[in-house]
Amino acid sequence: MKINLMALGLAATALTGSVSMALAQDAAQPRRDDPAALVAQQGDADGAFVMPGRFSEPDGEKMYRRVCAACHMADASGAAGAGKYPPLANNPNLAASGYPMLVTLKGLNGMPPLGTMMTDQQVADVVNYVRTHFGNQYDDAITAEDVKAMR
Ligand code: HEC
Repeated sequence: MKINLMALGLAATALTGSVSMALAQDAAQPRRDDPAALVAQQGDADGAFVMPGRFSEPDGEKMYRRVCAACHMADASGAAGAGKYPPLANNPNLAASGYPMLVTLKGLNGMPPLGTMMTDQQVADVVNYVRTHFGNQYDDAITAEDVKAMR
């Protein structure tokens, strides 16, 4: 169990790094292949990546690809290795919209509360995207208002 948690922590750290790099690249065009320069640019004396305040992805598909796919894979089939990342494809747990909305907003064990770095609309978009793709056909879309109410 301890090893699993460590592995998930590492995965989350790696993700944070890549997301920070991606965001910073949008803003200032730093070199993606040079994390040290990026850290210096962000002014973090400890050498740790700074959590981005906000994701900038404009729609659910881009958000999925940039953020969720890192753990759940591009085709949402999930992954099992050092940690266990459940598939989101053909997942009956997505039938009740409140559940993926809650997990995205609050996190769940190895999954960070990524929705805290998204606008209400971005959370709604990515939840609606996964609930209508990868073999999921749940058309009762959630709205930014729903997300706001659950925060
Ligand atoms: C850092 C890795 C990571 C990222 C990035 C990530 N997840 Fe997860 N996710 C997990 C893990 C690990 C679990 C399993 C948690 C558990 O059940 O203990 C999970 C579980 C879930 C579940 C519950 C699935 C079920 O069957 O119960 C949903 C829904 C979900 N994630 C959606 C998303 C969405 C949407 C995104 C992108 C905004 C995302 N995840 C990004 C790691 C991640």
